[in-house]
Amino acid sequence: MKKIELYEVGPRDGFQMVDDYIPLETKVRIVEGLLDAGLRHLQITSFVSPKAIPQMKDAGELASRVVGKYPDADLFALVPNLRGAEAAWESGLRSVSYVVSLSESHNRANIRRTHEDSFAGLQAILEAYPDMDVCLDLSTTFGCPFEGMKTEDDVVPFLKPYVDSGIGTVNLCDTIGIANPAQVRCIIDAVWAEYPSLDLQVHIHDTRNMGMVNTLAAIELGVDKVQSTLGGLGGCPFAPGASGNLATEDLAFMLSEMGYELGVDIPKMVELAKWQATAIPTGQFSGHQFRIPDTN
Ligand code: COA
Ligand code: ZN
Repeated sequence: MKKIELYEVGPRDGFQMVDDYIPLETKVRIVEGLLDAGLRHLQITSFVSPKAIPQMKDAGELASRVVGKYPDADLFALVPNLRGAEAAWESGLRSVSYVVSLSESHNRANIRRTHEDSFAGLQAILEAYPDMDVCLDLSTTFGCPFEGMKTEDDVVPFLKPYVDSGIGTVNLCDTIGIANPAQVRCIIDAVWAEYPSLDLQVHIHDTRNMGMVNTLAAIELGVDKVQSTLGGLGGCPFAPGASGNLATEDLAFMLSEMGYELGVDIPKMVELAKWQATAIPTGQFSGHQFRIPDTN
């Protein structure tokens, strides 16, 4: 049976879109609930400027509540710069997603950096923390709200200096949910043709209800690490039009019905998604989950 590793990013990508501060206890309960449901790869927060994303002001406190408590879990955080990586390291995390946008306009809007600055920022992290596991989160891989669609001719050369500097994992992010399955296939094929040993993940927003087909297209090409968010929460505050992610419970349901081994308890995730929708007032909950039979 083929195994797929689910990467849950709701506590970062989902929570960052909620305007009202989510109490720390609620965040901890969701993070622990996800772990209890069997998820083993969890992006728990981001170490970013609280002026940019006020919701993430408690990143250190949240990390101190869970890091070390779940030794078999891969807990990680998003960082935009060396300062964020320092804070993540000090909180005990040893794994980060370093975010850079393929589109320079979105890079400037999101992290106020040029491509050159972002590349230099990554080098500083790799130098300061050689033992940190760093995944490159490539935002707007498939298209950008300011620059339009992207192709493999944009992605492949962009990645070269990153791969040359030792990046072994790249998360291809459809930040605004603009991708289609044919494009997903073209980009992944081209990236793997050029960098065959690169570990790829996908992170697809569900703006046009294409999160599932785009993620499946990646899986069918051999991608076995996929990102999603509980209840489909998510978006980027600096990308106009960005909406929720693919819902983890929906993705898990489809993959499990298809015979993939996931190691998660879907009914537990569904219960948690329902609870999250009540605990986080603006939370979304698609409702598809009600169709999951009790026996599953
Ligand atoms: N964590 C916490 N605070 C940080 C920080 C970090 N990683 N990096 C910078 N800061 C603080 C600085 O100390 C400074 O604080 P001060 O004004 O109180 O002195 C302030 O943020 C601005 O710092 P500066 O280096 O000038 O950053 P900036 O204004 O150019 O913004 C980023 C750059 C990257 C820090 C900011 O745009 C950011 O955090 N973006 C993240 C956006 C995001 O999370 N998007 C969604 C996820 S993809
Ligand atoms: Zn996202």
